Amino acid sequence: MSQQWAQVAKKANSILAWIRNSMVKDELRGKVVWVTGASSGIGEELAYQLSKIGALLAISARREDELERVKKKCLQISNLSEKDILVLRLDLTDRSSHEAATNSVLKHFGKIDVLVNNGGRSQRSLFVDTNLDVYSAIIELNYLGTISLTKHVLNHMIQRKKGKIVTVSSVMGIMGAPLASGYCASKHALQSLENSGDQSHKMPTDRCVRLTLVSTANDLKEAWISDHPYLAVCYLWQYAPTWAWWLMNRMGKRRIQNFKSGVQLMPGQTPAPGSPG
Ligand SMILES: NC(=O)c1ccc[n+]([C@@H]2O[C@H](COP(=O)([O-])OP(=O)(O)OC[C@H]3O[C@@H](n4cnc5c(N)ncnc54)[C@H](OP(=O)(O)O)[C@@H]3O)[C@@H](O)[C@H]2O)c1
Repeated sequence: MSQQWAQVAKKANSILAWIRNSMVKDELRGKVVWVTGASSGIGEELAYQLSKIGALLAISARREDELERVKKKCLQISNLSEKDILVLRLDLTDRSSHEAATNSVLKHFGKIDVLVNNGGRSQRSLFVDTNLDVYSAIIELNYLGTISLTKHVLNHMIQRKKGKIVTVSSVMGIMGAPLASGYCASKHALQSLENSGDQSHKMPTDRCVRLTLVSTANDLKEAWISDHPYLAVCYLWQYAPTWAWWLMNRMGKRRIQNFKSGVQLMPGQTPAPGSPG
C-alpha cells in the first residue's frame, strides 16, 4: 500500500514539475531579459536556462571575454540566433554609465521585459580587520549600483506600463552572519528596498536558478530559496530572533575559529578530518 502511495506521490510531483516548467516557458519565451552579473555563477546559469526557454538576452558584467563565452554556449544549447543575445559590458559601480547601457539594450531589442539584478559580490573578513573602504565598495556595488540601474530600467517599464524587476538577495539579507558584516548590510539594505529571490551556498546553482525562474514567471513578491538548514535558520531569524541569536552565537564562534585557523566552513558543514574546529 505504501509503495502505491509513493508511486502516486511521484507521479503527482512529476505532473506538478511539468506544469511549473510549462508556465515558466510560456511566461518567458520571447521576452527580453537583462541579466547582470552574467559572466559567472548564478547569472551565467540563468543565461543558459533562459536561452533554452527561448528568452532574448542582454547579458552584462565587466569581463566581456567571459560574457562572449557565455553567449557562445547559449547559442550552442538553444535555438537563439546571434542577434538574440546582446553582450553589454557594464560596471555596476560606474553609475554614470547606466543610462547609456539601458539605452543600448532598448536600441537593440526595443523593450526590456525583465531586469534581473544579479551582479554583486560577497565578503569574508573579521569586522575588526575590515577597512572602511571595503564597506563603502560593497554598498556601492550591491546596493547603490543595483538601485541606479533599476531606476533607469524602471523609467522605461513605467512608460510601457509593463515589466518585472527581479533582485537576487541572500539569506544574509534576512539574517546576520559572522565574517560578512558589510555584505549583510548591503543585502539587508536591498531587502528593504525590494522583496527578492534568495540563493544559498548549498543549493546547486541550476536548481536555484530554476526556482528563481518559477518565482519570476509566477510574479511571486518574495521567494525564500534555500536548502535546509539555511532555510530553517532564516525562518528562525525572522520569527524567533532570540533563538536565532543563541544558535548564531554557537555556530558563529566556530566559524570565526575556523576562519582564523584558515579553514573556512559554512554553518552546518562538518570540518574535514584532522582540521581544527
Ligand atoms: N552563490 C551563492 O551561494 C549566493 C548566495 C546568496 C546570494 N548570492 C547572490 O547571487 C548573486 C550572484 O552571485 P554568484 O555567487 O553567482 O557570484 P559570482 O559567481 O562571483 O558572480 C558575480 C557576478 O557579478 C559580477 N560583478 C561583480 N562586480 C561587478 C561590477 N562592479 N559591475 C558589474 N558586475 C559585477 C561578476 O562579473 P564581472 O566580475 O565580470 O564584472 C559576476 O558575473 C550575487 O548578488 C550574490 O550576492 C549568491
